[in-house]
Amino acid sequence: MRQTFAPAHIQAIAPYQAGKPIEELAREFGLDPAHIIKLASNENPLGCSARVRDALVQAAASLQGRYPDANGFDLKSDLSAAHGVPVSWVTLGNGSNDLLELASLALLDEGTSAVYSDHAFMVYRLSTQARGARHIKVPTKNYGHDLPAMLDAIAEDTRLVFLANPNNPTGTHVQASEVKNFLAQVGARHGTRVTVLLDVAYDEYLHPSERADYAQWVREFPHLIVTRTFSKAYGLAGLRVGYALAQPAVTDLLNRVRQPFNVSVLAQLSAREALKDTDFLAQTYALNLEGRSQLEEGFARLGLEYVPSHTNFVLVRVGDAAKVNTALLHRGIIVRPVVGDGLPEHLRVTIGLPAENAQLLQALSEILAA
Ligand SMILES: Cc1ncc(COP(=O)(O)O)c(C=O)c1O
Repeated sequence: MRQTFAPAHIQAIAPYQAGKPIEELAREFGLDPAHIIKLASNENPLGCSARVRDALVQAAASLQGRYPDANGFDLKSDLSAAHGVPVSWVTLGNGSNDLLELASLALLDEGTSAVYSDHAFMVYRLSTQARGARHIKVPTKNYGHDLPAMLDAIAEDTRLVFLANPNNPTGTHVQASEVKNFLAQVGARHGTRVTVLLDVAYDEYLHPSERADYAQWVREFPHLIVTRTFSKAYGLAGLRVGYALAQPAVTDLLNRVRQPFNVSVLAQLSAREALKDTDFLAQTYALNLEGRSQLEEGFARLGLEYVPSHTNFVLVRVGDAAKVNTALLHRGIIVRPVVGDGLPEHLRVTIGLPAENAQLLQALSEILAA
């Protein structure tokens, strides 16, 4: 249905296609939800820390009818201590998705533009379009960000650059030194007129030697916002909580457009508990590393080209991805088509438990042999 009274830039939006929920597939195909595996939304196959679960049970029992702390004091204090930045540099979000929206609300409108890479996280396009701003999409190099080209693509009207590192849906990673150099060059050419939003949603899956001290970068660069999430390695995707680090001038702008109660009581509490459970994070990292090798080696055995991953998912080229996806769904396996990201021959597969990965590889080998 075409709503012609809406602005043209809103009518032009193709809505976000989320990974199919297990219950939806069960309803559509008459399958038993207990036998469905979902490797579609880059969630943590371990769920979340038992410590979070216990805290949630206790909190539910004593839940009051009050709004959450609009300023998220306790969680922001914990994050401030964890990163060594003042509390006034932290903004909480309803997932890190919220912070992408806040940045676009604060910085974009008609007559401005945002720069991002081709095959980048879909929400960069959506939040740019929603503001009526122009988007400048820069071609990738070997599925990864071409930072020199992105630097050159920044136009007179550009106000925001979105950069995911590692990137979704390709799983590629640009070395920290190159990103830092990019930030310095954006600053040197454009001062604080252009803000770079560095989205490190998958940082916890990087080898420790590949990670950077983003708080230090935020201290150094007044035109930088770093966004992080509790949805991936911390396993809190269903709770919805993420945060941004930025200098006070930018943080102030984000807070002007933020809903006052954007992070629920339970989400704030869960994030605080999750931060304390470093064992869970280590277990998540180890499991992911093992699963990544299992999938990548399995794809290689099947003769499938894949993009070497730095994340908790692998982008694999299967040929007719729509057909393979349908065949997987019939077998109760949900992965992520990426045709909307301009990749009609690929599927994005979240790394699951070893048995789930094995089931996916077995199903793929049967489907491709048929
Ligand atoms: C690169 C990237 N950024 C941000 C997000 C948003 O996640 P959330 O809103 O759950 O924090 C995602 C989710 O898949 C992502 O892949």
